[in-house]
Amino acid sequence: NNKFKGRDFLTLLDYSTEEISYLLQLAKELKAKQKAGKTYQPLLGKVLGMIFEKSSTRTRVSFETGIYQLGGTGLFLSTNDIQLGRGETISDTAKVLSGYLDGIMIRTYHQSDIEELASHATIPIINGLSDDFHPCQVLADLQTIEEVKGTLAGLKLAFVGDGNNMANSLMIGAAKMGMNFSIASPKQYLPQASIVEKAKQIAQDTGSIIEVTTDPIAAVKSADVIYTDVWASMGQEEEQAKRLKEFASYQVNQQLLDHAKSDYIFMHCLPAHRGEEVAADIIDGVHSVVFQEAENRLHAQKALMVALMAD
Ligand code: CP
Ligand code: NVA
Repeated sequence: NNKFKGRDFLTLLDYSTEEISYLLQLAKELKAKQKAGKTYQPLLGKVLGMIFEKSSTRTRVSFETGIYQLGGTGLFLSTNDIQLGRGETISDTAKVLSGYLDGIMIRTYHQSDIEELASHATIPIINGLSDDFHPCQVLADLQTIEEVKGTLAGLKLAFVGDGNNMANSLMIGAAKMGMNFSIASPKQYLPQASIVEKAKQIAQDTGSIIEVTTDPIAAVKSADVIYTDVWASMGQEEEQAKRLKEFASYQVNQQLLDHAKSDYIFMHCLPAHRGEEVAADIIDGVHSVVFQEAENRLHAQKALMVALMAD
């Protein structure tokens, strides 16, 4: 599908509802192929560079495995090892790597650095997480919700916790797909007003309801999907103790979930902290789909790479 070829994937804001649906359909097909043991190598000979300035288990392994399964190769590029980490400019790095690679996945702090890389590169740039967004995770999350619930539009997704990169991307993803989205955070940790505003604008076209509150019970009320994430993200390690106190009443536990729909599913991008943002009996309980969700990173990103990088 040449509507995708060569494009970047920096946030879900740049993709229409139809385009996201197309990627989800492709992810479903690629998952079925993989499960049937079929070889499918539309990226034969292609190389994906994977720049990491932060740690990763899922993103690194799912991208590297995914490109390999599609016939290509992934290169793990830690900023501890490449010259970018010693001060070589983003624009020089972008121009040099564009001469070798067929695509770059980057995980870093500032969304603006990813945008700068994209503006100087001539190959697709994929956001593998920034402080503001984690769109690849949300593709996998939407795939998972559709698998379990059979649909997206009209469902209610409740996010309880920090108004962070996951909250931002889920809010945009939900709005794009016509899902209702409700977030509960302590006042000083609500998502950025500018991103809430964007989600509300999108929601006007898709019919979603976007709700922002400090009350976890209000957020999870009649929700189909309950989502949480760590209280201190990568780069916020020194705030851990302070946040533990401030988020104490935002734990996803049975008492809170009594207010959700009885057939709710529990989701978390992982890594998780049991006993902090989620009680162990919930993340390890029968409503939890976190490992199906983690596996779908592989399938969703394979779809993304095929769409952006295949000839
Ligand atoms: N969910 C996620 O992105 O996990 P990693 O940090 O392990 O890549
Ligand atoms: N919010 C978390 C997500 C990790 C996948 C972080 O940024 O560390």
